[in-house]
Amino acid sequence: MKIFLDSTNIEEIREINKLGIIDGITTNPSLIAKSGKGFNQILKSICKEVKGPVSAEVTAESFENMLSEAKILSKISKNIVIKLPLTFNGLKACKHLTKKNYKTNVTLCFTVPQAILAAKAGATYISPFIGRLDDIGQNGVNLIRDIKKVFSNYTNFKTKILAASVRSIEHVTEVAKAGADISTIPPKIFHQLYKHELTDKGLKIFLEDWEKSKQKI
Ligand code: G3P
Repeated sequence: MKIFLDSTNIEEIREINKLGIIDGITTNPSLIAKSGKGFNQILKSICKEVKGPVSAEVTAESFENMLSEAKILSKISKNIVIKLPLTFNGLKACKHLTKKNYKTNVTLCFTVPQAILAAKAGATYISPFIGRLDDIGQNGVNLIRDIKKVFSNYTNFKTKILAASVRSIEHVTEVAKAGADISTIPPKIFHQLYKHELTDKGLKIFLEDWEKSKQKI
């Protein structure tokens, strides 16, 4: 499974990217607004830091304006992926941009039929929002499982499943078990992934024992 960071915080992205295991970045209009910086500046610095795909979302609702915004966003860097909402116009724009060789990420997916339509429109990625389904009493991970099952029934569906709205360690575990191609993870959750109290406890014991042994490496 690939790991993307779901963030516009360049300092946090830079720090985690030092590990060399981050495959890409996702952003959305809310995260751009939260960064307090201009979208151009923030996306440019992210694309300079991370060589993998960086999703940048259109905010237009009409087909024509989505295409104009896609053109502007794609000029920021060659690793920009155009993020489009799962609407009638978003699907139409996805099909159009796919024909022109743009990479696309169809976002705000909450059902299997929505994912099928995005795949039919040639989306590079489909983003099911699992945490937001959990918020309304449904099971977000089940959606990933179902989309995976349906996509595997048809060899012509090449769209990658990008689990989004990931809120916990358990979400990361479960979407990996369900076969998500990518999980996009907020930095705060990422830093929880490598931690375990027994790791800390075990390390403390090892170091104390080593100290007692009076040896050196
Ligand atoms: O990847 C989508 C994400 O940014 C939305 O997450 O937690 O606002 O549902 P959340």
